Amino acid sequence: MYDSLKKLLDKAYAPYSNFPVAAIVKTKDNKYFFGVNVENASFGGTICAERNALNSAIGAGYRSSDIQELHVLVNSTKHAYPCYLCRQTISELCNSDMIIKLYNIDNKVIEVKYDDLISFPFEKENLK
Ligand code: THU
Repeated sequence: MYDSLKKLLDKAYAPYSNFPVAAIVKTKDNKYFFGVNVENASFGGTICAERNALNSAIGAGYRSSDIQELHVLVNSTKHAYPCYLCRQTISELCNSDMIIKLYNIDNKVIEVKYDDLISFPFEKENLK
């Protein structure tokens, strides 16, 4: 997984932050979806790697119960946890039994529990 993430990292479009991020979603039927961060001169238009990978899986027809793993690599020796917008997206598009692994550039991996990452999300029940 690390080698695929590392290759993917080169595709990140991060001219403003110089902080490339790569993400891979694995589905239960062994399909892989890829995402990198894509920045914009209008900074709010930036999309994170995690959301790009997850949205790509959704666009292919997969849903939360199909998504098994999310892997994220940052180009830094310091691990980075997904931003809170990505956490909100994970809460919508993934189930709590998924595996989330965070890689640093030295291939040190931290596995984080969904419930530790996502506490008190805004959810569809709130809209009823
Ligand atoms: N970024 C991600 O792709 N994922 C995260 O969870 C944190 C931040 C990106 C967004 C932006 O392009 C750059 O990292 C710096 O914030």
